[in-house]
Amino acid sequence: MRQRKVKNEAIRLAAVEYLQIKNGQEILGRWRDFLKEKNHDFTGGIFLEIGCGRGHFLASMGEANPNHFYLGAEGRSSVVLKAMELIQEKELANVLFIPEFILDIESYFAEGELTGIYLNFSDPWPKKRHTKRRLTNRKYLAGYRHVLAPGGFIEFKTDSDEFFDFTLEECSEAGLTVEESTRDLHNTDLPARLVTTQYEELFRSLGKPIHYCRIRV
Ligand SMILES: C[S@@+](CC[C@H](N)C(=O)[O-])C[C@H]1O[C@@H](n2cnc3c(N)ncnc32)[C@H](O)[C@@H]1O
Repeated sequence: MRQRKVKNEAIRLAAVEYLQIKNGQEILGRWRDFLKEKNHDFTGGIFLEIGCGRGHFLASMGEANPNHFYLGAEGRSSVVLKAMELIQEKELANVLFIPEFILDIESYFAEGELTGIYLNFSDPWPKKRHTKRRLTNRKYLAGYRHVLAPGGFIEFKTDSDEFFDFTLEECSEAGLTVEESTRDLHNTDLPARLVTTQYEELFRSLGKPIHYCRIRV
């Protein structure tokens, strides 16, 4: 994917360097201690958004749940820069970023290290030949299952009917339980409607229904 140039990127990145985890794979198996060192008030769960974009969702979640820790993985440097600047502006001490495309999640997190994973408007890869790249294909689901603690969850939102169907099928193949599922989240009273992402707001403004499911591990 082509990266967009950002003005003064190096200087701006340096100013938010404290929010970046550059050696995520070296923290495998000791995330709780690592995050506790960063924030002594941290007592709750560790949540990861894969493909966090500009960080709006993480900012809201971090603000609302100060005892939890939120990690955002984002492979596009110009985008993760905006996310880090948002967290800096909000002075949140419980949100950090892994500025990379995470594909092999088991090389970052040990068994049971995460409490929840958010896949918000992941790239739909609509072409059939690209289905292996979809972040909910069975290979990735097996990785998520491994790194999630018992009782952990994956929450998935998309505007794409086809990607949603594919995800439900892959969950079924993987033997994962879908405990909540709707093709129109904002016409339900499910809690997931309350914190929205930047893409979610965009699609809602275009009148598109938001598909959502929660997968229990
Ligand atoms: C369509 S945007 C959605 C952003 C945000 N979650 C939202 O809902 O507003 C998807 C983002 O995921 C990032 N991305 C895709 N695959 C990724 C991966 N494996 N690891 C980290 N970031 C990824 C892309 O760079 C892109 O910024």
